[in-house]
Amino acid sequence: MFSAEDIREDFPVLEHVVYLDNAATALSPRSVVEVQADAEFHYRANVGRGVHRLGRMATHKFEEARDVLLKFFGGESGILAFTRNTTEGMNILARGISWNPKDRVIIPLQEHHSNILPWFSLEAEGKIAGVDVIGGTDGHIRVEDIEDAITDDTRMVAVGHASNVFGTIAPVKEIAKLCRRNDILFTIDGAQSAPHLPVNLKDIGCDYFCFSGHKMMGPMGVGGLWVKDGSPMPNPAYAGGGMVGKVSGHSFTTAGGAAQFEAGTPDVIGAVGLAEAARYLTRLGMEDVAAHSCALAHRMIDGLSEIDGVSVTTPADDELVGAVSFTVDGVHPHEVAYFLDEAAAIMVRSGEHCCQPLMQKIAPAGGGTVRASVYCYNTEDDVDLLVATVEEIANMVM
Ligand code: ALA
Repeated sequence: MFSAEDIREDFPVLEHVVYLDNAATALSPRSVVEVQADAEFHYRANVGRGVHRLGRMATHKFEEARDVLLKFFGGESGILAFTRNTTEGMNILARGISWNPKDRVIIPLQEHHSNILPWFSLEAEGKIAGVDVIGGTDGHIRVEDIEDAITDDTRMVAVGHASNVFGTIAPVKEIAKLCRRNDILFTIDGAQSAPHLPVNLKDIGCDYFCFSGHKMMGPMGVGGLWVKDGSPMPNPAYAGGGMVGKVSGHSFTTAGGAAQFEAGTPDVIGAVGLAEAARYLTRLGMEDVAAHSCALAHRMIDGLSEIDGVSVTTPADDELVGAVSFTVDGVHPHEVAYFLDEAAAIMVRSGEHCCQPLMQKIAPAGGGTVRASVYCYNTEDDVDLLVATVEEIANMVM
């Protein structure tokens, strides 16, 4: 098991702050920054186009990065396209599939907007018949709820692998089985699972998986879309350089594989940095990363639950990815977050966490929740300082 103390020097800002906003964006270790600087200085060139040596080098590193990520996610049987982030991946998918106007999509209520709004947009445009929103507000996605919502017209089930509000984990393998039995496409929003869990896409059995690099220690603005079947999709979200098969007159065919989703010059430097992040996490060991995040989440839940006036929204499940939401009676979540920073340099997120449909139910007065989220460089001391400072805040209003 790695030691959080030992790796902290890879993240210089930790000398100055207690960083507990990892579900929003994680910190990058020195090696991720260094490989990007090396790429900038030594092989900054376009990929898959020219034949000069810098272009060949950049292409080699870009494709190597793709292979590293395919291996990291156990996705060698499918294709992986670089995107800007999870949101872009979900939109490329929603736009790319050839829908029948009677099609329906099932999503849980607790989803992040990135796995709600692309489907609502299709519904508003009449491209699909509707979106069926299932599940409650306890952080748990139940296979039975999905099964009950399936009709002959259900074409897609789209689920967040781990909740960015609760840190709970969805039973994606069981959902994949259900979808296969019913001949339904299954999309996973992996934004919060990719950083914390060992993900094996072949084992899970989904059709699509989207993730963001910056939440798993990679650079900001680069992520991925994994697709089980890399045949050309009927409707490219972006058309232009690099994604084309053949242009004839005013029409064109789309390239197969990852290229179809990577129109224009991709973020080559970002992809190289993201691959280094995957290597860094592999060196730590994803099983151990998962265990570390889960243990700290439980320490947060235990500590915060003891404080009078604090309500913890995250259930104490056996497995959690490390994001814990809570509220303090009589104090707006933004005030809690501001005080944590001012008093103890603790960075947390407050607000609706891009989950307005859920927040309208669990925090109807507005303001959302406070969310503290850990990663592999956080320690028990970080959590204990959070708990002690929240207690101070709660005592001030008692
Ligand atoms: N999706 C990110 C979060 O939940 C930004 O904070």
